[in-house]
Amino acid sequence: MPAKRATILAKSMELQSLLFISLSLILLCSVDHVICGRTSTFIRSEWPSTDIPLDNEVFAIPKGYNAPQQVHITQGDYDGKAVIISWVTVSEPGTSEVLYGKEEHKYEHSAQGKTTNYTFYNYKSGYIHHCLVDGLEYDTKYYYKIGKGDAAREFWFQTPPTIDPDAPYIFGIIGDLGQTFNSLSTLEHYMQTGGQAVLFVGDLSYADRYEFNDGIRWDSWGRFVERSAAYQPWIWTAGNHEIEYRPDLGETFNFKAYKHRYATPYVASKSSSPLWYAVRRASVHIIVLSSYSPFVKYAPQWFWLLEELKRVDREKTPWLIVLMHTPLYNSNEAHYMEGESMRAAFESLFVHYKVDIVFSGHVHAYERSYRISNINYNITSGSRYPMPDKSAPVYITVGDGGNQEGLAVRFSEPQPDYSAFREASYGHSTLELKNRTHALYRWNRNDDGKPVPTDHVVFHNQYWASNTRRRRLKKHRRSQASYIATY
Ligand SMILES: [Fe+2]
Repeated sequence: MPAKRATILAKSMELQSLLFISLSLILLCSVDHVICGRTSTFIRSEWPSTDIPLDNEVFAIPKGYNAPQQVHITQGDYDGKAVIISWVTVSEPGTSEVLYGKEEHKYEHSAQGKTTNYTFYNYKSGYIHHCLVDGLEYDTKYYYKIGKGDAAREFWFQTPPTIDPDAPYIFGIIGDLGQTFNSLSTLEHYMQTGGQAVLFVGDLSYADRYEFNDGIRWDSWGRFVERSAAYQPWIWTAGNHEIEYRPDLGETFNFKAYKHRYATPYVASKSSSPLWYAVRRASVHIIVLSSYSPFVKYAPQWFWLLEELKRVDREKTPWLIVLMHTPLYNSNEAHYMEGESMRAAFESLFVHYKVDIVFSGHVHAYERSYRISNINYNITSGSRYPMPDKSAPVYITVGDGGNQEGLAVRFSEPQPDYSAFREASYGHSTLELKNRTHALYRWNRNDDGKPVPTDHVVFHNQYWASNTRRRRLKKHRRSQASYIATY
């Protein structure tokens, strides 16, 4: 009967499709010399999932009347020649001026910032200062001073190298940090790595877990991360714990605390919102997206992403990285499929533009995918399996910073073919961009006393992976080698 024949044919096609996927993944695994789909069973003793008490020294308030606290910096422009320096004063507004220069205690330059504040139900913030310091030289150490008199405080930061396809750089990747002893362990381990800037993938303080979203926990978190964030830029991504939509408290201005406290250079990348933007740094183009703002086709974020992807120049910044809070691929039971709507909206763009890596948080565990895509998904024809795809990004979830909600320990079984490695432990990642073709990536599980690289991969740049470009690069390097040999 025709209907029966059609069913048999459909089943046969499905089997063939599954066979093809399996063979492709086997081939992918053998080519990359990696172990296919590993779920680590490592169990570590961890600190309790409770926030560090407010009177702990990690939240110490700096001495002196109206002393600047919660100091943090982020990139202030598109190309890394500016920083935004932010801090809070509590007793009075004080000054928003930043003194800075290339020598310690000698401040030849100054910049004037602005002050803001906000209320959230019955919480009233301190005076929040943001100061843009621009016109900086690349690859230079700058010292800066904020505050007045005895309460003034001094810090420093290093500007990135000139934008160059072979500029090396080390990023840390941290997500869902919170303020527990596990969070402290993650932060301290990261600070031992030599990372030069942090890609933060959302969910900062978890202040919204407190009654009335107590802003005091935003303040303590600011003092907590200052040990790193005052000295190197943290590139911010907004997570769900930043939304703070509380109509029951009369608070309907989404991301209120986050937007007041954590500035981003969104105007420099022609974005209309601080929640999505892009920066270029060393050899990488970083695109930050908002999982909790409209992103469907024709929404402002969608339009902006389309234009920003056209602006990416892989000859100058060969590495293309996307940050977002909710992962598009996640085989943990926690937050399963929450990224599916954004995957449907953006995945084909990521594949078309050969994004190298998409970093996410949200799920409190670690997971890395193979290069796969599901851009042929079709609800009508039934095509529905992620396929190995050399043009696709690797998806990495690093939501394991250590916040009070604890670990997401339940992975779905069996491990899907697209998932390369997963483990439910706290930790952070580092990405060392070596040159235009190679980057060394590590996920470091927190361990007793030292970071342990648990998952490590050498990434080959997606743009320079094409055969023609690889040949062009070889030719270029040969001509450089002969130049060096001759002279
Ligand atoms: Fe989250």
